[in-house]
Amino acid sequence: MKPQVFFRFAKEDRGLAGPRRPVPLALARAIATLLPEQRHRVALLHQEEAAAACAAVEYLHPEELLRYQGFSLPKRRREFLAGRLCAKLALTELLPEQALAPRQLFIASDPSGRPLPPGDEAGLPPGLHLSITHGGEFAGAIAANRPCGIDLQPLGDNLLRVRERYCLPADEVLLSQTLTHLGERERLALLWTAKEAAKKALSHRRMYGFLELSLVTLRPLPDSCFLLGLAVAESGAQPQGAEALAVATLVDDCALALSFATEE
Ligand SMILES: CC(C)(COP(=O)(O)OP(=O)(O)OC[C@H]1O[C@@H](n2cnc3c(N)ncnc32)[C@H](O)[C@@H]1OP(=O)(O)O)[C@@H](O)C(=O)NCCC(=O)NCCS
Repeated sequence: MKPQVFFRFAKEDRGLAGPRRPVPLALARAIATLLPEQRHRVALLHQEEAAAACAAVEYLHPEELLRYQGFSLPKRRREFLAGRLCAKLALTELLPEQALAPRQLFIASDPSGRPLPPGDEAGLPPGLHLSITHGGEFAGAIAANRPCGIDLQPLGDNLLRVRERYCLPADEVLLSQTLTHLGERERLALLWTAKEAAKKALSHRRMYGFLELSLVTLRPLPDSCFLLGLAVAESGAQPQGAEALAVATLVDDCALALSFATEE
């Protein structure tokens, strides 16, 4: 089994080595085993450290910079910058032969907010997919050759307070029967983050609501990783097989999930 290799960005981006956080190896191994044909790269950064290391004007495309400057809240600026940096890292690692400077990569958003990988204009091949998240102190992104999603979710009290907004009764049964060694908050954090990542992985169809996705399979994997299968729960109908797979784990007081659509 080939563990995921993490490259440095490019020489212009040495500043990112400090803020960069390793993606848990167990997560990368789980995906390599489950989806051996899958090509993807993931990058995680500490938001504040990334903002201190990288000036927006040097790393953002002029169009991205305009958006960045339009945000009035420093928090939103920081998370936007860190998310874009992660996406650029992941893209350049997926396509190391492209050797584009970060400012040349324009990651637009569609009208729903979904990040769009640069295409022809940057000379990148078609068929790439991107997803971005920011949660707690961190930001993350995944680039892949199939629809994908990433999510980071801090282990806050809101997970317990608003559980009925994202956890179906059948989800709860499967979680408590399978993850007997975890506390309730941890179980719910894994479900939340897997559903958010799956929503993003399926967002090329449309953005599903949390309660439209039902947990159909749940399996512990080695090293405290979990495989969750999510299906679209059409109203009244029994969900069929998983339409998105998510691999999730707990790291640094956050749940982290990567998800892939099972069909393109
Ligand atoms: C979009 C959504 C999945 C984001 O999740 P979140 O946990 O709030 O936030 P995260 O930090 O994990 O993710 C934020 C990133 O998600 C991405 N995102 C936003 N909208 C998206 C969409 N429709 N599809 C896929 N990804 C999306 C963006 O890259 C965003 O970061 P950016 O604005 O810096 O580029 C969530 O807010 C949601 O489901 N919203 C519903 C919105 C909706 O239904 N829109 C349709 C009406 S147009």
